[in-house]
Amino acid sequence: MPSEFLDFSTALEHLATYPSPDGLSAKDLMNSQLHGGLTYNDILLLPGKIDFAAHDVITESRITRNVTLKTPFMSSPMDTVTEGEMAISMALLGGIGVIHHNQSPTAQAAMVRAVKRHENGFITDPVVLSPSHIVEDVLDVKERLGFSGIPITDTGSLGGKLLGIVTNRDVQFLSPSTPLHQVMTTDLVTAAEGITLKEANDILRVSKKGKLPIIDKSGCLTSLLARSDLLKNQTYPLASKLPESKQLYAAAAVGTRPADRERLRLLVDAGLDIVVLDSSQGNSLFQIEMVQWIKKTFPRLEVIAGNVVTREQAASLIVAGADGLRVGMGSGSICITQEVMAVGRPQATAVYTVAEFARKFGVPVVADGGIGNVGHIVKALALGASAVMMGGLLAGTTEAPGEYFYHEGKRVKAYRGMGSIEAMEQGKPVPPSAKVNGVGPGVGKHAKPAPSTPHENAATARYFSEASAVKVAQGVSGDVQDKGSVKAFLPYLHAGLQHSFQDIGVRSIQQLQQGVQEGHVRFELRTASAQVEGGVHNLNSYTKRLFA
Ligand code: IMP
Repeated sequence: MPSEFLDFSTALEHLATYPSPDGLSAKDLMNSQLHGGLTYNDILLLPGKIDFAAHDVITESRITRNVTLKTPFMSSPMDTVTEGEMAISMALLGGIGVIHHNQSPTAQAAMVRAVKRHENGFITDPVVLSPSHIVEDVLDVKERLGFSGIPITDTGSLGGKLLGIVTNRDVQFLSPSTPLHQVMTTDLVTAAEGITLKEANDILRVSKKGKLPIIDKSGCLTSLLARSDLLKNQTYPLASKLPESKQLYAAAAVGTRPADRERLRLLVDAGLDIVVLDSSQGNSLFQIEMVQWIKKTFPRLEVIAGNVVTREQAASLIVAGADGLRVGMGSGSICITQEVMAVGRPQATAVYTVAEFARKFGVPVVADGGIGNVGHIVKALALGASAVMMGGLLAGTTEAPGEYFYHEGKRVKAYRGMGSIEAMEQGKPVPPSAKVNGVGPGVGKHAKPAPSTPHENAATARYFSEASAVKVAQGVSGDVQDKGSVKAFLPYLHAGLQHSFQDIGVRSIQQLQQGVQEGHVRFELRTASAQVEGGVHNLNSYTKRLFA
């Protein structure tokens, strides 16, 4: 070995002679005096050391002051992304779906209720019918709520004497007018009140029944357990559930107008856990007052306020009492806010800046918009986000609202910005009682009376344009390619995160963020040509399959 080389056994010690570790710290990376605001594509993380398996990586994250989920995935409150089916699937898979509010308050509340009923430990408010109800009532419940195992009590409500149970099979092929006392099953397996969830589950497991009614000493119904929930517990180990009731977490969006307070009451009655205040510019008096009112009126409801992209905006909402902040302005795939309004911020810089500030007050941030692949999620988390919110990435899945259609030979679903003319024109009028002084909020000198049935347009309110004679679009309307079911897509995102963390050498989101703060997890800026190099290039043609 030539003598000018150092002894190889000293390589690790020799590292210490360099003034800093290889690459850039997050702070240096984000020093905007060097380059201006950054997007996710402008940066990369440097690899660390792998000394654990990818499946050991824990993706648990606190998304508001008091709610922790097993995966950091949220779906956007948009009318082409999150309704009941998406919200249920997101929660089963470990994330959470935020139900949009471009619909009537009762329709939105029904979706929240469906999420809360979907998976239960003890169902403490089961649907109950009486012997004099008819087959049509059972079919109606099945249609609205998706289940048909209904206990029958003498009063037709919880607390009445249990007489039987009606299942789908009991009512198949019967006349809709048949009374239930003629068809109900009376051979029941029941359990006594006071039984533990585990004991009750054991009885259900060995019985061939679909439901286990729980009764008190006098035979009156006090709650119910469902076999389908047992199966779901086995299939969805990551599910986002309240620790005590085992119900799925439900989240929904509202605006900040007076009518939204009534809407929120309905949502809370339906069991809402997290409310997202939906505004493209969250630092407004409307929102500050709304946060304060919510914290006073519903102290147990978690409030995610936003959207914000600066420290100053964040500070206002933190002072008001926000339990989480939604970060992003102009980064969404359908968004033209930066182009039209000339305001916004590149998303990597926005996430880093707000998260760095909010962390000091224990307020988690959600990186909203611009997530196009697993790498973007990793970068958002590394920059301090506790979760990512996705619109376009999920809009093409089976669980998103709307039907598939073909566009230029591809199977697609419609996806539109809530600030697109199409979403804003879906204006459904407000009942006169919901108006203040005959007009909607955002009242200004040009305010026009809000339209009159059955709900205000949430999209115009999000962009403060319900009072404007001319609607200025901040979003476009288009379509996105079929992505299959979120039941396959979310596990792909989850596995992708785990593999990425393994490359970085961190075992959890917490360890990633700590490593970034302490300067062990390092970054690199990507030039335009580095971005070309990092994509597929110089191939004649190729197929891009993301997972199998
Ligand atoms: P995506 O995941 O990149 O498609 O962005 C989704 C996010 O864009 C949503 O969660 C909203 O914050 C935001 N957004 C929704 N509609 C509009 C719009 O019309 N203009 C601008 N941003 C929008």
